[in-house]
Amino acid sequence: MKKNKIAAFALAIFLGANVPAYALPVEDTAAVGKVTAPADSGFDYLLLVNKANKLPDDYEARVDLVTVKNVFGKEFQVERETYKHFMDLREDLQKDGIQIELESAYRSVARQKELTEELRVTEGEDYVKYYVAVPGYSEHHTGMALDVAVVENGKTTDDVYGEAETSYQKMHRRLAAHGFILRYPPGKAAVTGYAYESWHCRYVGQDTAQKIYRQNLTLEEYLSDKAAMSGQGPRASAEYWLNRPNTDRRHAALIREAFGRLGQICDNNEFAGENGSMQFIAELGKRVGVKLPTKPEKLKNTKATIALSGLNRSEKLACLQNVALGSLLFTNDHAMIYLGTDEAGTPYVIHASDTRWFPMEGDGSEGENTAPLKYYTRRVVAEDLFFFDTPTEQAIDSLVSIGLWQ
Ligand code: DAL
Ligand code: ZN
Repeated sequence: MKKNKIAAFALAIFLGANVPAYALPVEDTAAVGKVTAPADSGFDYLLLVNKANKLPDDYEARVDLVTVKNVFGKEFQVERETYKHFMDLREDLQKDGIQIELESAYRSVARQKELTEELRVTEGEDYVKYYVAVPGYSEHHTGMALDVAVVENGKTTDDVYGEAETSYQKMHRRLAAHGFILRYPPGKAAVTGYAYESWHCRYVGQDTAQKIYRQNLTLEEYLSDKAAMSGQGPRASAEYWLNRPNTDRRHAALIREAFGRLGQICDNNEFAGENGSMQFIAELGKRVGVKLPTKPEKLKNTKATIALSGLNRSEKLACLQNVALGSLLFTNDHAMIYLGTDEAGTPYVIHASDTRWFPMEGDGSEGENTAPLKYYTRRVVAEDLFFFDTPTEQAIDSLVSIGLWQ
């Protein structure tokens, strides 16, 4: 059983598939007591706690937890605003005949430690590694993460895969309207670090929840886009980079065109597909009168291409020093525009990435998650090349000088 679960997890990473839900003990759910909205406290409802981001040391002193009970009489603590919206969600779903109850909410670091030990005994070391956050790194410490059980025929769902999935999917479609997101959605394990959890919801507020849901993002992706779009500073201007001697006319035009779109959301189907960044660059090329490659295969055996695969980091950087700004850098499935180095000597590139969008329930588009996906360029950003040169990211393996390409 344990082995199956681990295999399912590996498969989920690979396929973005569902995995069986783990049956947490039914801890909580029915509303007790009146909860009022707190005054605007400046509390951070977008706090990111994940495998790389620990709960801040002073968090527990700042969070306002309310103690509540579920219909089974089990007691929980939940962040005040989160609980209020959970109760609205619960009431909303009740109208559709779906009963949801709290199963787990706030967990202290000490409780997470205990739980880890319990699961280590009952489920084994591998299970703990793949399914349970290290104490200090669990979103449950925030009080804004809720494990939600569906109650059918008087019983809560257990860990049989797919059980109550229809009800869960209905719940997923109503989450954003109440300020919640599905925190570990299918197909995003590589970003969130966890396989699909149909039951784990996170309160982020309605505006953010709707953006995340519509754009099919995770909290990690949403926050990194926000940071990228708001914090670019002087490096987000073509002039900063073009004030160099080795810029020819075509390169300069390409860079200007790309900066014209930095941070923009372009609802342009021309960029659709897996190689969105390459199509983005090809489109820029068209506008400045240069035909640029859109497929990595086309790069091979051209005199414009310098193969970088197999080179170490400093050898790659040495190659970059000899090419004009605006040259293109490629991995297997991603393309970037090289911008040269900033004053500190850090090499920069322009990235573009696309994402999927699906119409959501209640916005007039009749859509559910099954509606045809649309694509758009989500993100065009100037970024430090180091970001892409880590052991977990694909290495840059070729370089094309557009001056030589035609
Ligand atoms: N199962 C979730 C990831 C946690 O332990 O926080
Ligand atoms: Zn959870």
